[in-house]
Amino acid sequence: MMVLAIETSCDETAAAVVAETGDARRPWQIRSSVVASQAAIHREWGGVVPELASRQHVRDICGVFEAALGEAAVTVDEIGAVAVTQGPGLVGSLLVGVAFAKALAWSLGIPVVPVHHLAGHIESLTLAHGELPLPAAVLVVSGGHTSLYLISEPGQYRLIGRTRDDAAGEAYDKVAKLLGLGYPGGPAIDRVARGGNDRAVEFPAARLTHADRNDPRATAAGLLPAEVARRIDFSFSGLKTAVLRLVRERTGAAPAGKAAATGSAGAALPPSEVADICASFQRVVVETLLDRTFEAARWLGARSVGIAGGVSANTRLRADAEARGARVGIPVMIPPIALSTDNAAMIGAAGLRRFRDAGPGSWDFNAEASLPLELR
Ligand code: KG4
Ligand code: ZN
Repeated sequence: MMVLAIETSCDETAAAVVAETGDARRPWQIRSSVVASQAAIHREWGGVVPELASRQHVRDICGVFEAALGEAAVTVDEIGAVAVTQGPGLVGSLLVGVAFAKALAWSLGIPVVPVHHLAGHIESLTLAHGELPLPAAVLVVSGGHTSLYLISEPGQYRLIGRTRDDAAGEAYDKVAKLLGLGYPGGPAIDRVARGGNDRAVEFPAARLTHADRNDPRATAAGLLPAEVARRIDFSFSGLKTAVLRLVRERTGAAPAGKAAATGSAGAALPPSEVADICASFQRVVVETLLDRTFEAARWLGARSVGIAGGVSANTRLRADAEARGARVGIPVMIPPIALSTDNAAMIGAAGLRRFRDAGPGSWDFNAEASLPLELR
């Protein structure tokens, strides 16, 4: 079977055709994957403007869909199901994809499969590398999420740790903005950090020792000792504030609270200092992500580690993860860059997994801005 997949959760309009291979170890193959990025539109505003994003999805979706069919050299009649991101994401953006997918599937008389965006990121690993050696500890690290999952059975995602505040990608984007590096911040910091000294500044790495009172769901309850479960959560807002404080000190910018936090005071710093700050910030983010992921993997007896989501495109995260995996003798799976950041091929893969496990589900699902990903 072939699925046509649609992804519009944030600022990329994406469509893809993904086919089943019949090979259980490497179950899916990408026939086409088309992404129309809105980065140039949002750059002007320093971040994603939800209303502009929804409007641009409406403009782009038909062309992106047609391009995906064209690149795959298939006609709509050959498509067996439509998979679409249901959430989480910007609700106006999601709605465009969900409405398009339902209308398309209905008109063709084929099923529509709602897909969780993070299940898509997780399945980008199997799409690229084949079924993971299980159990697997998979870190999904993107602009909206920093979540660690345990996968014991294919398609069963158990949340074991997540950020208590900012996502790692969000921290990248905010720090880049503060340093005047523009949007999106992750690729900019990745590039600039290469010319900096990663020991120039000793930024603090947040250590979580307290239970999360805001979220009574004990993520790793029963799987890990309570002490370890806490340590495996993430926090990046303190690091972001430490960068802000340093930039204020170095530029003499007034501590104007929120106003300073949203400005680009660091643009006044010499480029070598900006590079040092980027490299030092990135070292802490990458070490934190990998320390916790590998610690969880060790406790859980994982046979592989996966890293997916937009931040998995990061050069240093990729290199350090591979090195650590080699050191402790555990295979590390990371998608190729085109499957790290948002795309529809991963939604097609997760859609096929879900369709084969649970059938298509009902027609009355809606776009959901927040949607937990737990055991299905
Ligand atoms: O998965 P994604 O495309 O969208 C979400 O689901 O959020 O992730 C986007 C995030 C952004 O925060 C972006 O700055 C970050 O991924 N990102 C990177 C890199 N490329 C994208 N962060 C660090 N280094 C990169 N090379
Ligand atoms: Zn994403």
